[in-house]
Amino acid sequence: MSALVQAHAIRKSFRHTEALRGVSLEVAPGEALAITGPSGSGKSTLLLCLAGILRPEAGEVYYDGTPLGGLGDTERTRLRRREMGVVLQFGQLVPELTVVQNVALPLLLDKHERPSAHRAALAWLERLGGLELADASPAELSGGQAQRVAVARALVAGPRVIFADEPTGALDTVAGEQVLGQLLEAVRGTGAALVLVTHDNRVAARADREVAVLDGVIAGTGVLS
Ligand SMILES: Nc1ncnc2c1ncn2[C@@H]1O[C@H](COP(=O)(O)OP(=O)(O)O)[C@@H](O)[C@H]1O
Ligand SMILES: [Mg+2]
Repeated sequence: MSALVQAHAIRKSFRHTEALRGVSLEVAPGEALAITGPSGSGKSTLLLCLAGILRPEAGEVYYDGTPLGGLGDTERTRLRRREMGVVLQFGQLVPELTVVQNVALPLLLDKHERPSAHRAALAWLERLGGLELADASPAELSGGQAQRVAVARALVAGPRVIFADEPTGALDTVAGEQVLGQLLEAVRGTGAALVLVTHDNRVAARADREVAVLDGVIAGTGVLS
């Protein structure tokens, strides 16, 4: 079985900090992988490299066998829009757009017709129990609602992998549990893979497999029951 996403010996530095010092990992199609580790260990840097948002200085990231280093910025952006979904800690919704416009955005940027993009966005909002938020402005949302909208936006284009960086890290326990449950259920329902960065062991325990990062290297890996 071949990996959907594969990192091979990647390194990434920021000025004097070696954030990643040779990391290799594979994400299988449909797998939910948790990346854990303390703050500053390199989790976000790893996620951004896997998603092709940051370019490692050494090593390579492969998506479905294609080396991302060989793609230009435009090609990588297009690939990400069509094949990947990204959820960050604070939703990162566009404040000038309504909720439904935010969710439809990946499709509109990929030149889908506006009516069909909006229909798809509404369908995802409904599936995640946020249909009544469709015409709201992001500023009106609670943290949990904003993350639910971010999850809908990440899924709207039918990605094969979702990258989520501490998507419940800014939420209280109840809202965090709800968003996490919805994210896992939605991802599993579509058959997409999930790469979930978290420093919360209980969150990690809900993934299929865990990779622990420490000081920019993989410190351990395990199959979760
Ligand atoms: N844009 C950046 N500029 C400078 N240093 C950074 C940047 N991003 C991350 N780092 C540093 O790289 C290391 C790993 O950071 P990060 O990947 O954000 O860790 P984590 O997500 O596990 O908290 C830290 O020492 C952090 O300070
Ligand atoms: Mg981080």
